[in-house]
Amino acid sequence: MELLDALKLQWEWGADEALLDMPQDRRHAPPPAPLAFKAPQSPAPARPASRAAAPATLAGPEDAARLAAGCMSLGELEEAMRGFSGCALRDTATQLVFADGAPDARLVIVGEAPGGEEDRIGKPFVGPAGQLLDRMLGSIGLDRTKVRIINAVPWRPPGNRAPTEAEIALCLPFLHRQIALIAPKGLLTLGAVATKGLLGAEGQSGIRRLRGQWRQTRIEGLTAPLPCLPSYHPAYLLRIPLAKRESWQDLLQLRAWIETQS
Ligand code: URA
Repeated sequence: MELLDALKLQWEWGADEALLDMPQDRRHAPPPAPLAFKAPQSPAPARPASRAAAPATLAGPEDAARLAAGCMSLGELEEAMRGFSGCALRDTATQLVFADGAPDARLVIVGEAPGGEEDRIGKPFVGPAGQLLDRMLGSIGLDRTKVRIINAVPWRPPGNRAPTEAEIALCLPFLHRQIALIAPKGLLTLGAVATKGLLGAEGQSGIRRLRGQWRQTRIEGLTAPLPCLPSYHPAYLLRIPLAKRESWQDLLQLRAWIETQS
């Protein structure tokens, strides 16, 4: 019973992933060797100048915004985010889940945060919700190669909990910078987290009110506001299949808009 309680506690803390094939009993592990500091024998080789190689000791949204603004390509941004230590989610996630799809897509799809599968594989929307998203895109003649798929928060929150307001705000500059570097024609936000993150105060009204209506949103680094269509998150559709009817209406709107763009 004691063991079961300990397991339950770990689950509640969000430790719901096995990282190794064999369990490790750390109670009997030898203590780690003390760190030895050695004076450098010769000067360290100079690093190539790169804005993305900024120090990984940053903390707040202002630091994230400064770091993001210095990135001039998606590659630089990915490298900078990988090295950003200001978000505690990075410590519990397996890896950064940066993006999938075309780097020059005209439509950017924004989800919430990676789940377990995404965290393991390193790509957004590869679990059950992602498979539904693939089918939804297919139903209007799209696929992953024609869009860019990203998340409001790029690290998996432990136990798949929803990201907090503070985590969303901290990651927002990275989200804006990625959208600005792609420079799409429009956005599709899936669920309340992405919609709130990108629509600000307007996005607070709740996804059921906001879905299916195009809004305009300002993205840092882009001169003109971008049209943004909020819709339900596929994970919600898996839980509430009846909502697929409204989601289909949103997809039809999206397809009609795409046709006006070509
Ligand atoms: N849900 C999301 O919002 N994003 C993912 O990448 C996967 C599931």
